[in-house]
Amino acid sequence: MAGGTVIAGTADTSRIEAPVTVKAYLMCAFAAFGGIFFGYDTGWMGGIMGMRYYIRQLTDIPYPTADASKEALAAFVIPSWEQSLLTGILSCGTFFGAIVSGDMADRIGRRWTIIAGCVTFSVGGIMETAAVELKLMVVGRLIAGAGVGFISAIIILYMSEIAPKKVRGALVSGYQFCITIGILLANCVVYATQDRDDTGSYRIPIAVQFLWAIILGAGLFFLPESPRFFVKKGRLDDAAKALANVRGQPIDSGYIQDELAEIIANHEYELSVVPQNSYIAQWTNCFNGSLFSAHSNVRRTLLGIGLQAMQQLTGVNFIFYYGVVFFKQLNTIKNPFLISLITTLVNVCSTPLSFWMVERFGRRNLLIVGGTGMVIAQYIVSILGITVGSDKGADTNTSAVSAMIAFICINIALFATTWGPCAWVVIGEVFPLPIRSRGVALSTASNWFWNCIIAIINPYLVGEDYANLSYKIFFMWGSLCMVSVIFAYFLVPETKGLSLEQVDKMLEEVNPRNSRKWVPHSTFASEMGLVEKGITLHVGAKGDSTPENVEDVIVPPTSKGAV
Ligand code: BGC
Repeated sequence: MAGGTVIAGTADTSRIEAPVTVKAYLMCAFAAFGGIFFGYDTGWMGGIMGMRYYIRQLTDIPYPTADASKEALAAFVIPSWEQSLLTGILSCGTFFGAIVSGDMADRIGRRWTIIAGCVTFSVGGIMETAAVELKLMVVGRLIAGAGVGFISAIIILYMSEIAPKKVRGALVSGYQFCITIGILLANCVVYATQDRDDTGSYRIPIAVQFLWAIILGAGLFFLPESPRFFVKKGRLDDAAKALANVRGQPIDSGYIQDELAEIIANHEYELSVVPQNSYIAQWTNCFNGSLFSAHSNVRRTLLGIGLQAMQQLTGVNFIFYYGVVFFKQLNTIKNPFLISLITTLVNVCSTPLSFWMVERFGRRNLLIVGGTGMVIAQYIVSILGITVGSDKGADTNTSAVSAMIAFICINIALFATTWGPCAWVVIGEVFPLPIRSRGVALSTASNWFWNCIIAIINPYLVGEDYANLSYKIFFMWGSLCMVSVIFAYFLVPETKGLSLEQVDKMLEEVNPRNSRKWVPHSTFASEMGLVEKGITLHVGAKGDSTPENVEDVIVPPTSKGAV
């Protein structure tokens, strides 16, 4: 390689990705660990807000006595506005963290942005652990949230960019699995410490988070950078090394060269369509093009933002954030913590099914079918609650309450196998390289924005002094799931089995409803003239890493339609 290697790419659509070794699979899978942060950090607050010690610490209300009236028990809670603030402020931090991370990922790389997220998260975590009153806790959650924002957006980007196309959906679903494990771990730790009568009751669950930061930060130190980041930076020799590393292949393998050529040609093609000049343009490009073309940047950005919003509007976090408080309010369940633990377990145990389903049935089908199932399950919960399951003291119909809990669990299992993973899988796949980091960042920010809105409004929706929707809230979530299904039907393309560059081509040629039948028929390398002329790389050479002839060889097609 010392004198330079000419890479030319291929016109053969079956050669645009190198074969992958087990080591390479393990690397991708490790990145999924970042989901633990996301899940754990969203999981502990709900439980802590239901803890006796924490309620007394924040409100100064003495513990209710054993013979306390129903009213006195009901009054022993953290006020709704404080609950909203404590839950919502995390999502607020993650929202801004996610947006900033899009810039950072293009500047310092995907890997370093995730490591920076671990550091930021730890700073916030120290404040949360030290806090004995509301203010410091709120600031700590805001900063920790920013760290989670970096991590949640860029892990998706990183995984989608390094994972092999055949199992990309399954590997990114692994990230969702880690989110669920994070929520479960948070619940277990909270369950174990809830009865302590000291600050350990809430400090232990908070402090456990440092472990995740250390494992992820240290692990990523040893993983390679995304080859697509180097292509974006024009550092093609580094891209070749990184690609060889993530595929577990020798750097001079023909497969590595063909895959790299395809990534370069696709990037150059996208730049020829929408050039990126200034910093502002890099953001505004996310909103370029026509709303009526599935291929335009604006459509893809709206798809990502909308998909994540819809995922939140399925209402699943109502159970995870407010499960304990909601089940307590119903006065029909003896141990709300336990029910909350069960719902979390259902979430964890059903998610691995999605590893297989997402590659077998595809993202689009899962979103449509899963969303429809959730509409039905949530309507049933509301109908049961209103008709036979409501709190009638000693006469409460316990079988009806059990049936409601069963349908809540079915709803969670449906989410865990469809909207949970697929929303993340799809946002990692639909953006072209020039806007990918910002597109994923905006989509993730949308997830956190809606997460925040839902966290804030939930206590008011079910609070007895406010809307007091009680069981009826599931009518609302069910109806929003219906909107999600319509969204998926019209706007979400099928991306399974395609390389990120093939997704780009597919979006150009068909609309989302016909995308399932699309098959790759040409490569960017051949269409951009790379196959004839090639690019010379100096892999391993010091100093200038700019390829010799990238600009002359890449001949952009005259118009989009020509490709
Ligand atoms: C969602 C989270 C949710 C979690 C539940 C994720 O995909 O974005 O908001 O809490 O799934 O498993």
